Amino acid sequence: MEKYVIVGGNSLSGKVRLSGGKNSVLTILPACLLSKGVCTIHDVPRLSDVFVMKEVLECLGARVDFSGNTMVVDSSQVTSIEVPDRLTRLMRASNLVMGPMLSRFGQAKLAYPGGCSIGSRPMDQHLRGMKTLGAQIIEKHGYIEGKATKLQGGEICLDFPSVGATENIIMAATLAKGTTILRNAAREPEIVDLQNFLNSMGTKIKGAGTDIIRIEGVRELGSVEHTIIPDRIEAGTFLTIAAINQSDIYIDNIIPEHLEAVIAKVRETGVEIYEEANGIRVISNQRTKGIDFKTMPFPGFPTDMQAQVMVLMAVSEGTSIITENIFENRFKHVDELRRMGADIRVEGRVCIVKGVKKLSGAYVETSDLRAGSALVIAGLVAEGATVVANIYHIDRGYENFEQKLRGLGAQILRVNGTKER
Ligand code: EPZ
Repeated sequence: MEKYVIVGGNSLSGKVRLSGGKNSVLTILPACLLSKGVCTIHDVPRLSDVFVMKEVLECLGARVDFSGNTMVVDSSQVTSIEVPDRLTRLMRASNLVMGPMLSRFGQAKLAYPGGCSIGSRPMDQHLRGMKTLGAQIIEKHGYIEGKATKLQGGEICLDFPSVGATENIIMAATLAKGTTILRNAAREPEIVDLQNFLNSMGTKIKGAGTDIIRIEGVRELGSVEHTIIPDRIEAGTFLTIAAINQSDIYIDNIIPEHLEAVIAKVRETGVEIYEEANGIRVISNQRTKGIDFKTMPFPGFPTDMQAQVMVLMAVSEGTSIITENIFENRFKHVDELRRMGADIRVEGRVCIVKGVKKLSGAYVETSDLRAGSALVIAGLVAEGATVVANIYHIDRGYENFEQKLRGLGAQILRVNGTKER
């Protein structure tokens, strides 16, 4: 089991270039199944989740070539409609093949993705959308099976602006007969990237980025070439690293508008942030101030940044109140931060963080992707050495994480072997 060994307290500086967006590529790869041609996708990050999605497409019969950061997907010979349990358990986003498969082949079968450490994560909104478009949905023996002779356009209003349900329904409506109107849709930048990808393949979608999306069904889709948007959560993570380390760092390859809520909150702590066309410069030269924040759907403060900014609050002046509105179980990092000397109290979906002057290095365990990146941030400022275990979680969402950190002057090593402490 690989771990990180981090020696804290190094001042960081310099420039870091970020990767393409994990959550964008994880919806654009399934969308390739809608095409009868070949899709060429650039700036695809080499993450374990991306390799799982590649395997999902291959087990359906697509041919996938992944060299460097370019993936070429040929779905002209799709032969299967089933995604096995083994893959849906590894990664929830494999449920995003349901819409494209139902739309193009009238059939899809996937093992129930089930929950993960951050929450139960049902699919009721996805399935209600598919049923409204005329699909028959059968849930039994741990599988969800969908069937439809031809999907028909319709009107859907989501109970909650779910990112995954919005993406799945857009993809399902793409080859459906007639027009679909999707209300209370998610507005995340990944939805806009999906719309741009699909429209360059020949679809007619309008409204992504707003809460009403209109999809006019088309007969078939051809080949396309596309570059994935930068990863806004990786950007937020490095912004937090710069803020907590009292450093001067330039973060390259980001779209500042995708990160406005995080930039605004980190500015409130007293950090200087200068936005440029494709990047931001972060200058932090004093102890940060505690602030309150609530996680919300985009354009609100992203839940995927809650853990990282909690670490910043743990060493800031004063008290902060953090409310997690999206997932019911996303405070798994709190106990580990307490081992490092943080003063945090959990009351249901709210955390009260009293800032301490210093954290101390310790042996801590990662429970999920963003909790993992938060523990690395804590290790970078803690006194002495920190060992972060189970970093396979971090590999799901951060490409070349330790190399990028070392490039800024951090002391971080990846080690493996069974020795626990
Ligand atoms: C996407 O997950 C992201 N994953 C998550 O990022 C992110 O945290 C989340 O959106 C919210 O921003 C990918 O894009 C691959 P949702 P998704 O459907 O689509 C409930 C990371 O760290 N819900 O918007 O699964 C659900 O339980 C990951 O990169 C229903 O109740 O999120 C949750 O509480 C973690 N019924 C809330 O909505 C449904 O049918 C938001 O879920 C669907 C969702």
